[in-house]
Amino acid sequence: MQKMTVKDIDVKGKRVLVRVDFNVPVDDSGNITDDRRIRSAVPTIEYLVNQGARVILMCHFGRPKEPFDPEMKVDRMGERLAQIIGRPVCKLDDCVGEEVENKVFAMKDGDIILLENVRFYKDTKNDPEFTEKLAKLGEIFVNDAFGAAHRAHSSTFGVAKLLPSVAGFLMQKEIEIMGNALRNPDKPFVAILGGAKVSDKIGVIENLLTKVDTLLIGGGMAYTFLKAKGYEIGNSLLEEDKVRLAKELMDKAVSSNVKLLLPVDNIVADRFAIDADKKVVDSTAIPADWEGLDIGPKTQELFANVIKNAKTVVWNGPMGVFEMEPFAGGTKAVAEALAKCNGTTIVGGGDSAAAVEQLGFANKVTHVSTGGGASLEFLEGKDLPGVAALKDR
Ligand code: 3PG
Repeated sequence: MQKMTVKDIDVKGKRVLVRVDFNVPVDDSGNITDDRRIRSAVPTIEYLVNQGARVILMCHFGRPKEPFDPEMKVDRMGERLAQIIGRPVCKLDDCVGEEVENKVFAMKDGDIILLENVRFYKDTKNDPEFTEKLAKLGEIFVNDAFGAAHRAHSSTFGVAKLLPSVAGFLMQKEIEIMGNALRNPDKPFVAILGGAKVSDKIGVIENLLTKVDTLLIGGGMAYTFLKAKGYEIGNSLLEEDKVRLAKELMDKAVSSNVKLLLPVDNIVADRFAIDADKKVVDSTAIPADWEGLDIGPKTQELFANVIKNAKTVVWNGPMGVFEMEPFAGGTKAVAEALAKCNGTTIVGGGDSAAAVEQLGFANKVTHVSTGGGASLEFLEGKDLPGVAALKDR
């Protein structure tokens, strides 16, 4: 279902309440280490400013335990946004209440205000009183926070029930590109799934098995599948209670005519450490007391060849412990293969998105999703409340 966007409404002179996802990673001193989510919201903000709207941005940061914890304030996000767009961003110390209302009602066309972290209040509870106070600030609601669209909170869902609500450009792009891939993919359609746990990906695997031609599985979750095939996996990650499910998923792939490929070799280490002893072994020969921490070179080649011929690729989850250089090769090889593929290439999800960004391939793929949990739920085929609440076109 297509959603109305900022382009479909007249915003001139209006107070436009925009939900953005500025929940960015920060280091121990609170410095932003990856501002992709902030940069991705800029097209919507600039468009609104250029149209003469009064832009009131709301966002969350982390999951604060204490209201107004100084470490959980969003001042740095406002500073970074101001740097990127080269305009003043007036950061307020609260997100609702009389003082905020006075400032908001005194805005001029083209002004930008950033409200304080909405999670200092009962945002996550979709509390009706809080929702109303937020909604009072705007005349129109724009949701550009794809990363938080799986949350039915006041600032993502509640306000959409009280104000005319449309999608921002980032939201539109995310749901269009990923939605098209799932609904109407150019074939062959290949999905690559990785990450530590099978349990996090069950819904995604089940949904993708009805759509893809080939499913490549790597990362920690692959070992539960290898175990289900009857191989010994040494000390590799195992979800004992998911072995039977892994077997069922492999059977389902066969009956659905989907090629499901597992690693044929692995980089194993004698302990989980950057300086561990490591070696390459076939998946049928993982020694006891060693653990698989990455896919091996034959698997890299096998996966790269499948990706090369794909017309649509969706990737979610790293192939190994890519944070440790000796075990980053598999993730890097997959990122490189996506970069070389001429089809539509989509990277969904927190860790794989961080990996392509870190490895310098972000500009060489069609789309890197800004959603972690949100893109997973999208790939599971679920309706995201923050999207569902927006006006249909
Ligand atoms: C995210 O980082 O995935 C989003 O910003 C949502 O954050 P949350 O999981 O704390 O709701």
